[in-house]
Amino acid sequence: MAFERVGVVGLGTMGAGIAEVFARAGLRVIGVEADAEALARGRGHLERSTGRAVDKGRLAPGQRDEILGRITLTTSREDLRDVDLVVEAIPEILDYKIALFKDLDRICEPGTVLATNSSSLSVTAIAAATGRPGQVVGMHFFNPAPVMKLVEVVGTVVTAPGVVADIAALAGRLGKTAVAVGDRAGFVVNRLLLPYLNQAAGLMELGVAGRDDIDAAMKLGVGLPMGPFTLLDLIGLDTAYEVMGVLFDETRDRRHAPAPLLRELVTAGLLGRKSGRGFYGDSPREEPAKSRLGTFGVAGAGGDGLAERLRAAGFKESEDPDVVLRLADRPVIEHAVRLPDPARMVGVHLVGDQVAELASTVLTSEEAASAARDLVKIAGLTPVPCKDRAGFVVDALLFPYLNDAVRMHDSGYASIDDIDAAMRLGCGYPAGPFEMLESLGLAKVRDGLRALYAEYREPAFAPAPLLDQLVTAGVTRFPRP
Ligand SMILES: NC(=O)c1ccc[n+]([C@@H]2O[C@H](COP(=O)([O-])OP(=O)(O)OC[C@H]3O[C@@H](n4cnc5c(N)ncnc54)[C@H](O)[C@@H]3O)[C@@H](O)[C@H]2O)c1
Repeated sequence: MAFERVGVVGLGTMGAGIAEVFARAGLRVIGVEADAEALARGRGHLERSTGRAVDKGRLAPGQRDEILGRITLTTSREDLRDVDLVVEAIPEILDYKIALFKDLDRICEPGTVLATNSSSLSVTAIAAATGRPGQVVGMHFFNPAPVMKLVEVVGTVVTAPGVVADIAALAGRLGKTAVAVGDRAGFVVNRLLLPYLNQAAGLMELGVAGRDDIDAAMKLGVGLPMGPFTLLDLIGLDTAYEVMGVLFDETRDRRHAPAPLLRELVTAGLLGRKSGRGFYGDSPREEPAKSRLGTFGVAGAGGDGLAERLRAAGFKESEDPDVVLRLADRPVIEHAVRLPDPARMVGVHLVGDQVAELASTVLTSEEAASAARDLVKIAGLTPVPCKDRAGFVVDALLFPYLNDAVRMHDSGYASIDDIDAAMRLGCGYPAGPFEMLESLGLAKVRDGLRALYAEYREPAFAPAPLLDQLVTAGVTRFPRP
């Protein structure tokens, strides 16, 4: 099916970007808003976004005029009578969407495809409200639509054959990568991303580590574009809270129940960037006082480089050191209790080449903890102070996400390559979850998940059977067709 004329309903954050994407690809666009005031705002979004592209030299002024010239703006839905496709981007409220789709069903030709940009609502429920359920799909763009290269194309059990492939081909024409999936809450990206963000909030509530430290660990340790709390502020805590609620309603997985902290912040009106304050926006954190640095000791495998750097910086190793840096990827309390003075031991878990997670046990003294912080800084690493818990921060957040990706694939919902592409393009991650799993080592992740399960007794932390079996079979890569 050829799509030449498209309608976009709702020209807010997403709709204006989507209209721009279509017009850039040479399609004619009819943009519909609720009233004249909203229409003027929509026009403003389009003008500013294309204006910025001209300022940055990405678009010639003449091209901008052509793009804007292909977009007709209106407040009348009836103008959508002759389009081949409508993409809806009005607020995420099912009743609004159903009313709109009923109306579009009346207005548009029977062959017109009706698509929703909904992030979390049931496409099936929207399709079923129309007289053409076979022609209704999800076309889920990412924010900002002109920049992000991913589109999730969502088919339902009643979508007519060929429609998903046609919309995926259209996404390709727009310069996007399409991932075709079924109608499950959160699709691929939000289903994998939001539980990780929610768990980060949970970890902070448990006091395992603080906001800035968790953000630093995931950004610098894993190479993500930003930490979970910065991203939550960007997404909007209200949106995140609602999507979590939708995931929970479908899965009844308690990890999908929105973290109580999210609820509290949302109720207080602290929604993130859009309201000026969310996880961030309060007074900046005070730098901890400098410690009195004395002698150090390094124990455990893999600490030679760290000891070397500290010696090079002029620090002295001692048989009876002020602080013992115990390299470990598991809680260190069992090692601490064997020391004459357990208060001096701090667990050190190196993540990548920039981050050192510093685990304080229940016995670690304040002095030892702050000396460890200063020492690893001197060694050129970013310290991430945390509690002495399985997985510390990074593995506790990363491994369950990787496990979820394995389960998602194993359930037949999406292929390995699609899941990897979705997370790279939809979230700007440096690698997809299967690529991360393979570079970390499947056995390491499986064993880490077992340790997390043993610590937190969370059923979803148990290694996915596929992961476990691959490790048992001695396989280091996921089989791809
Ligand atoms: N914001 C994101 O990051 C993001 C990402 C992907 C998908 N989405 C989805 O996109 C949709 C829109 O989200 P948004 O963030 O752009 O919302 P938004 O509030 O910025 O924009 C919604 C727009 O719809 C208009 N509108 C409301 N009722 C209308 C009607 N009956 N007819 C025409 N226009 C109407 C509003 O005036 C507003 O301009 C939602 O379904 C959301 O889940 C959002």
